Amino acid sequence: MRILVTGASGLLGLNLSLAALPSHQVIGVDRSNLAGVPFELLNLDLLEDGALEKMFEVIKPDCLIHCAALADVDACESDPSGSLRLNANLPEALAAGCGQRGIPMIHISTDAVLDGTREGFYTEEDAPNPLGIYAQTKLKGEWAVLKVNPAAIVARVNFFGWSLNGTRSLAEFFVNNLRAGKPINGFTDVYFCPMFVGDLAETLLHMLEKKLDGLYHVVGSEVISKYDFGVAIARKFGFEVGLIHPSSVEESNLKARRSHNLRLSVHKLSTALDRPVPGFSTGLVRFYTQYQQGYPQKIASYQQKPTG
Ligand SMILES: NC(=O)c1ccc[n+]([C@@H]2O[C@H](COP(=O)([O-])OP(=O)(O)OC[C@H]3O[C@@H](n4cnc5c(N)ncnc54)[C@H](OP(=O)(O)O)[C@@H]3O)[C@@H](O)[C@H]2O)c1
Repeated sequence: MRILVTGASGLLGLNLSLAALPSHQVIGVDRSNLAGVPFELLNLDLLEDGALEKMFEVIKPDCLIHCAALADVDACESDPSGSLRLNANLPEALAAGCGQRGIPMIHISTDAVLDGTREGFYTEEDAPNPLGIYAQTKLKGEWAVLKVNPAAIVARVNFFGWSLNGTRSLAEFFVNNLRAGKPINGFTDVYFCPMFVGDLAETLLHMLEKKLDGLYHVVGSEVISKYDFGVAIARKFGFEVGLIHPSSVEESNLKARRSHNLRLSVHKLSTALDRPVPGFSTGLVRFYTQYQQGYPQKIASYQQKPTG
C-alpha cells in the first residue's frame, strides 16, 4: 500500500512511518523538521490554502493515516481557534477528500474526549464529555470525520514511545528525569491504558487491512495509574523508584483539566481483529529493548539540523 502519513515528525507519525516501511510505501507529510528518514517526504503546511488538493494529487495514496494535530493539551488552552482548525476543521476536510476519492482513512483521536467520571470501563457507546479545549476540539474532529465520511476509522488512542526531540511522551518524561536523578511527581489518581507506539502502529495497519470503519478504542489492554507507570519504567530501566513522589493531579498546576479514569474497553477492537490487544507490560519490554538498541538516538538523528 502507498500510505500517506500526516504528522510524520510527531511521536506517532514518525514511529508509525518507520514501522510500516518494510511492507508498505510510506509518504510522510512534514514541515521541514525531518532529514534523512528512510521514507519519502512531502513538505507541506496542511493549513495552507490548497494544501490538501495538492497532497492528494501529488501523492495519490492508497490510504491516509492522519496523525497531525495540536496535541499539546495545555497549549490548546491558550489557542482555542488554532486548536479548532487543526483538530477539527482539518480532519473534516481530509475525511471529505478521502471520501470523494474512495481512499481509506484513519483519523487519530484521543481517550481525553471522555471526562473520566465513569466507574469501570468506557465503551465506544458511552457519551463523551471533554474537559478542555484540546479534548473539545478533538471530539468535534471525531464527529466531523464520521459525518462526512462514515467509512473512515476514528481511533481513540493513548500511547508512549521514543520521539524526535526526546520529550514528547510521558514515558520519556520519566526516563529523562529519573536518569538525571531528578525527583518528580507521579499521579496516583489518574488511570489510563497506555499502548506502546510500536504496538499501536501494527494495530492501526491491521485495522486498515481488515477494512474496519467507525469509532474504536485503540489503547492498551491493561489499566495503570500514572504513578505506577513511572514506577514500572524506573524498575525496568534500573532507576531509583523513590525519586517518584506519589501525588494528585488536582495539586498540580497543569493548565488543562485532566480526566481521572481513562479505563477504555478494547473489546470491540479485539473482536473485530480477532486477536488480543497488547497491554502496557509487553509494550514496556519493547520500549526498553529499543532503548538498549539505540533506537532513541536513531529517532533523534532524523531531526533537521538548523542551517547557518
Ligand atoms: N501523545 C499521546 O499520548 C496522545 C494521546 C492521545 C491522543 N493523541 C493523538 O495522537 C495523534 C498524534 O499525536 P503525537 O503525540 O504524535 O503528536 P505530536 O508529536 O505533537 O505531533 C504532531 C504532528 O502534527 C504536525 N502538524 C501540526 N500542525 C501541522 C500543520 N499545520 N501542517 C502539517 N503538520 C502539522 C506536527 O508537525 P511539526 O513537527 O511540523 O509541528 C507534528 O508532526 C494526535 O491526533 C493526538 O491528538 C496523542
